[in-house]
Amino acid sequence: MALYSEKVMDHFRNPRNVGVIENADGVGEVGNAKCGDIMKIYLKIDDGIVSDAKFETFGCGSAIASSSMATELIKGKPLEEVKQLTNKAVTEALDGLPAHKLHCSVLAEEAIAAAIKDYYEKTGNSGS
Ligand code: FES
Repeated sequence: MALYSEKVMDHFRNPRNVGVIENADGVGEVGNAKCGDIMKIYLKIDDGIVSDAKFETFGCGSAIASSSMATELIKGKPLEEVKQLTNKAVTEALDGLPAHKLHCSVLAEEAIAAAIKDYYEKTGNSGS
């Protein structure tokens, strides 16, 4: 079996939603101290819906595929639902990642959580 699924290769080669959202409502940046990879997620939020999501990832192919898939999964979704997004859901949507690459999908979960936290801080909402 190939190490990476077709979906991982597709999102790595043709990543969706790469870039910056000017005046984003929430921005989250996280890194992994071990591998040194960094992921930044930008969210546009309108009426409690994630109307747009973009990312910049300085990292491995799995991190790029994870951020691409994660932004696709959350676009158009209510914030309440996006808050529940786990790295497991991202990995499943990618048809799996090798065990030693699971931490790359964790970056996507953490970056989105950080962007939502930033949004709540900016809007003075506790999020609970
Ligand atoms: Fe660190 Fe992929 S090797 S994010």
